[in-house]
Amino acid sequence: MRIAIASDHAAVALRHELADGLRGAGHEIVDLGCQAGERVDYPDYAARVCAAVCAGDADRGVLVCGTGIGMSVAANKVAGIRAALVHDVTTASLAAAHNNANVLCLGGRVLGPLVAAACLDAWLTTPFEPRHQPRLDKISALEQGA
Ligand code: RB5
Repeated sequence: MRIAIASDHAAVALRHELADGLRGAGHEIVDLGCQAGERVDYPDYAARVCAAVCAGDADRGVLVCGTGIGMSVAANKVAGIRAALVHDVTTASLAAAHNNANVLCLGGRVLGPLVAAACLDAWLTTPFEPRHQPRLDKISALEQGA
């Protein structure tokens, strides 16, 4: 899978750790920043990853900030993005199975690296259950102003 990943300054170390793990698992990683040592605004990096996913340049996106909250709020403003903020393997798996989340958001200040990696693995390996598609269609309708 081709996965776009970005973080703000609060989660650079976790982003690198997750990206290394994904590469080790055979995924292609598009690292969209930020650079270590700079202080940035998380919406700019959410926008980069969401643009890559929406354009089809990445199959999925991963966003990491201090809590994951800011990234998820920003990402969900982008039409076509279903971003899930998760803290455990159960919600990560359900984000795939029920919500077909195409972006996963994680909090580098609130999650240990092993939990974050386990969340990522659960999200990437759990298949979407198509019976939930009608609800996703209603979310898409909301994007159209329904
Ligand atoms: C940055 O200090 C912090 O606000 C950000 O990483 C994130 O936690 C926002 O939701």
